[in-house]
Parts: sequence; C-alpha cells; structure tokens
Amino acid sequence: MPHPSLPNLLVLDHPLIQHKLTLLRDRATSTRDFKHLVSEIAMLMAYEATKDLPTEAVQIDTPLERMQGRMVSDKKLTLVPILRAGLGMVDGVSELLPTARVGHIGVARDETSLEPTRYYAKIPGDPSEPNKDLSVRATDRDFFILDPMLATGGSATAAVTTLKTAGARRIRFLCIVAAPEGVRRMLDGHPDVRIYAAALDRGLNAQGYIVPGLGDAGDRLFGTR
Ligand code: PRP
Ligand code: URA
Repeated sequence: MPHPSLPNLLVLDHPLIQHKLTLLRDRATSTRDFKHLVSEIAMLMAYEATKDLPTEAVQIDTPLERMQGRMVSDKKLTLVPILRAGLGMVDGVSELLPTARVGHIGVARDETSLEPTRYYAKIPGDPSEPNKDLSVRATDRDFFILDPMLATGGSATAAVTTLKTAGARRIRFLCIVAAPEGVRRMLDGHPDVRIYAAALDRGLNAQGYIVPGLGDAGDRLFGTR
C-alpha cells in the first residue's frame, strides 16, 4: 500500500526483507555479509517492484499441445545502479531479471553542501550515445534505478533527470533505506517516479546521514572505511 502522506512511496515490509534489513543495519555486520544482504534484499524487492510489469502473449508448445502463455518483455527492462553503492544491488535484481540491460550513473554527493555532482552516465537506448544500440530506445524501456540510500534525494533526482534527458518515460526507484526528505524531494521534482523502499527512517542528521540508517552504504559495501 502506498504511504498515506507520501503517495510516491511503497514500503516493502515483507518479513524476510525486514529480517535481512535488521542484520544489514547492525554495525557488527561484516563487509562480506553486508554485500550478501544488500544483494538478497534487492532481489526480494525486485519481486515486489515488478508486480505490475506488462506482459505479452507468446505461443509455446508444451510436451502435449500448443498454448498461449504470457511473458515479460525482458528486452525492455533496464537496471541503472547509481555508483558506487547501487552496484551492490545489481546481482540480486539480475537473479530475477537475468536479461535486463544495465546502465550506470555516477553521482557523488559533496560531503559539506550535500549537493550531487554527476560524473558518469551510460544509458541503454540513449540516442545521444556514440556506438548506440537503439534496438529498444530509452523511451520504450522500463527503468529501475538502484541505490541503497535515499537521503536528501539529490543523487536520486539527478539520476532521474539524466534518464529523462535520454528519453526515459517509465522509471522506478529501488532503495533499501529512505528518509522522508528524499522522498518529498522526489515527489516535488519527479512525481511520476514510484519509490520502493525496505524502510522509511526518521530523518537526516546534521551531516546528512539517514538516522537510524545503516551508515555509509558505499563504504560498508566496499570496505573503504
Ligand atoms: C550515497 C548513496 C546515494 C547518496 C544518497 O552515495 O549511495 O547515492 O549518497 O544521498 P542523497 O540522497 O543525499 O543524494 P555517495 O554520494 O556517498 O557515493 P558512494 O556510493 O560512491 O559512496
Ligand atoms: N549516503 C549513505 O551512504 N548513507 C546515508 O545515510 C546517507 C547518504
């Protein structure tokens, strides 16, 4: 069910997601376990976040007879992790969507101003790309932006703007922990983007970290602190 005061947010409170999220938040969780948990949570979230994907009719032969089944048009599915921490979610989601294409957006948040700077973008189906494969254009793709943390929302909204500039029209945002500030910023800037989160936390501290949160997702994922 959408959140009562944040209509763009869906909190996925499945018991397995909540169990794994609690382990993830624990400061005693090792880098190895953190990486594994991010991937598992992402996979469980992907199951929920793909519930309403359109399917198309296909003819197949069972061992007994010809029938019409339904399949997701997987050529159109596109994962876009926000570097770095979003990379930790790619394998988990890809377990469920193995033929999805993967784009990348690099956004770094300035530690003082908390404002985002985009430093990299490679989007499948972007007509402005050299050597482009335009068999399915961004306009026709279903995009899933992946980033464990939605804090001020600066990085997320910058990523959505990048995708829309490439032509994207259908975008979902999957994060593990969201702060109300980030969800509202997305609602103001991009009300068409549905956010799927495993938790909506209390807010941000003076340094822009989500509280209670889980700390710096990129550092915990890659062992850089
Ligand atoms: C983190 C996180 C998000 C962003 C969220 O990345 O993974 O991308 O901060 O904060 P915001 O909502 O206030 O923009 P960071 O910029 O620290 O980069 P990293 O993943 O390379 O560590
Ligand atoms: N980025 C993180 O990795 N963690 C936070 O709490 C906020 C931004």
